[in-house]
Amino acid sequence: MLQSSSAYLDWNNSLDVLGKAHDAGLFVLIIGPKGTGKTSLVREFASRKGAKLESINFSLRTRESHLIGTKTLNDGTIGFDEGILIKSMKDGSFLYLDELNAAEADVLLRLDEALDDRRQIVLKESTGEMINADQKWFVVATINPLTHVGTKELPPQLLSRFPVRIRLDYPPEETEFEIVKRHVSGSFDDKLKQGINLANTLRQAAAVEELYYSPSLRESIAYAKLLDSGLDAKKSADIVFGNVYAQWGSVEYQKVSDIITSMFGR
Ligand SMILES: Nc1ncnc2c1ncn2[C@@H]1O[C@H](COP(=O)(O)OP(=O)(O)OP(=O)(O)O)[C@@H](O)[C@H]1O
Ligand SMILES: [Mg+2]
Repeated sequence: MLQSSSAYLDWNNSLDVLGKAHDAGLFVLIIGPKGTGKTSLVREFASRKGAKLESINFSLRTRESHLIGTKTLNDGTIGFDEGILIKSMKDGSFLYLDELNAAEADVLLRLDEALDDRRQIVLKESTGEMINADQKWFVVATINPLTHVGTKELPPQLLSRFPVRIRLDYPPEETEFEIVKRHVSGSFDDKLKQGINLANTLRQAAAVEELYYSPSLRESIAYAKLLDSGLDAKKSADIVFGNVYAQWGSVEYQKVSDIITSMFGR
């Protein structure tokens, strides 16, 4: 089964934009809802460049020390355990700041310093030395749209440090079909198209707030995998696309059940 980064389909030429930004020394922000391929894109790019990728996934619990580092004490000797930002600056690796807008604003303050045009930071936490980023250092961040639970607006000065912005939304149905095909081996094109059509119908309903949840590419891929393992299409659709809506009660669930029945039969 295809599972590696080689399964990545560059359907909207994002790899090229990343490449141009990289060569120009510009940092990149990728904006898009969940499961649209943001992480896969960055991994694919790093692997094509043969670059080491350092990643951090931001949440409310992320602290400044995760980025900068922490003092250590070993047998009476004070040391410093470098955080991911410092490490990547020194190594000249790719730094992937995932879901940057899930972090508390104060955690992000030190990033302003490192990401400005000088690409340097004063390590006031330890020796006070100045860290200069290696020439090869490259930073890509992702944010989810503000409609996403737990996201905050990114401070404008931080936003401005990522002048190249790539929008990654759900692909057109035919493209989604090509993407999903890369993750399964079986041949069941018609059933697969039906599932992708259902996913898009649900996304459209969610976009106009008729439903609470919008399925991502992960659901389409999971649906395809269930087909691959021999489950029938209607059952797979119920399990992957339908049942989740029970979380918002029986009215919501019934709405989606009816859509599935109208598309797949009983
Ligand atoms: N262009 C693509 N080609 C091949 N597979 C893809 C593509 N885009 C997405 N996928 C697949 O869809 C799934 C979700 O992708 P990924 O995790 O990269 O999305 P994401 O945008 O980072 O999601 P999140 O916002 O939830 O972190 C993965 O299984 C990934 O392999
Ligand atoms: Mg991701």
